[in-house]
Amino acid sequence: MNDSFEAHFHRRAELRSSAGGRVNLLGEHTDYHEGFVFPAAIDLRTVALAAPRGDRRVRIRSENVGDTLEVSLDDLAPWEEVTWRSYVAGPLWALEREGHGLRGADVLLTSNVPFGGGLSSSASVQVCLVGAAAAWSGVSLSAQEVARIARKAENWFCHVPCGVMDQMASACGRADHAILLDCRSMAMEAVPVPASVAIVVADSGVRHALAGSEYEKRQAECASGMRKLRARHPGLKAARDLTMDVLEAERALLTDVEYRRLRHVVTEDDRVIEARKAFSEGDVAGAGRLLWGSHRSLAGDYEVSCAELDLLVEIAAGVRGVLGARLTGAGFGGNTVNLVEAARASDVAADLVERYAARTGRRTAATVVRPSAGVEVTRL
Ligand code: GLA
Repeated sequence: MNDSFEAHFHRRAELRSSAGGRVNLLGEHTDYHEGFVFPAAIDLRTVALAAPRGDRRVRIRSENVGDTLEVSLDDLAPWEEVTWRSYVAGPLWALEREGHGLRGADVLLTSNVPFGGGLSSSASVQVCLVGAAAAWSGVSLSAQEVARIARKAENWFCHVPCGVMDQMASACGRADHAILLDCRSMAMEAVPVPASVAIVVADSGVRHALAGSEYEKRQAECASGMRKLRARHPGLKAARDLTMDVLEAERALLTDVEYRRLRHVVTEDDRVIEARKAFSEGDVAGAGRLLWGSHRSLAGDYEVSCAELDLLVEIAAGVRGVLGARLTGAGFGGNTVNLVEAARASDVAADLVERYAARTGRRTAATVVRPSAGVEVTRL
């Protein structure tokens, strides 16, 4: 990559930043309800090489897109149309908005996180670039700060109303650990992933365009249910504060859709807490059962699955060595996450690909991923 940087910019790179994609083990569609999530950064990563300039111009070459963005830091404002440029300019804009005066730079960017696959390719780009731009401008930020600023870029520059999970996982991951995150207090605990298990992500090959609009619709459905419940229970700040007892007692106030959406949030939060306990006790079969339960809840109550993801989960249930599987990320396509016996990991990946191809005629990828470090910046 150093060679391509030199070929492109006719100078040497001075720093390297990298940030992982993420796989979420449990806690889906809970982050924007101030609930709990249990993701890990993975070893599919975005890498940037950079060298600061003496002016306020930034040139970012994307190896994946094969295009270069050239922009002045003085001209940054969110564009109406969101393209790859928004994802690479947003981090610079967000840093500047936070009052960090940046320097210009030449940047080469490359990523092996599959785009649109529910593994947070966009968060890894934004986290990687916030880390890089802070470093080339002499700004020192904690990993949490990097995540917060990267999310600001996604929310306001890319117009995506996402929660905080992806950026936190990408920035704050730790090798061989999953991150238990309380999305209200932002308290974080790194929980070792038992050595007897491995994680396989399996791509449905489906990229559903409706993911964005349905994501906002779920937020609205939950908000409308919460408004009704709050009239009777003013202490309910967010869906995270609900219990099954209150939800059952007040069921008559809610439409069936509102009830089911909120039931997912309550049961999913419980599953995260149970998963942490299962991991700590080495109960990997118990952890696996929580993944199956999560998928049922996401498909039935939250309705963010699709036929292809359901099929991949159904197939996984018949593959030897799979402890649990479910969709990961926002849903409507992308990848499933499979918790598998470590000794069977590569066989499971091969079996999933074969059987999915046999059922659908579609040959996609299944990959063993390792829980990895968060954002890492080094001087070259
Ligand atoms: C997307 C969002 C996250 C989270 C998940 C669903 O990945 O970016 O904030 O809401 O969907 O759990």
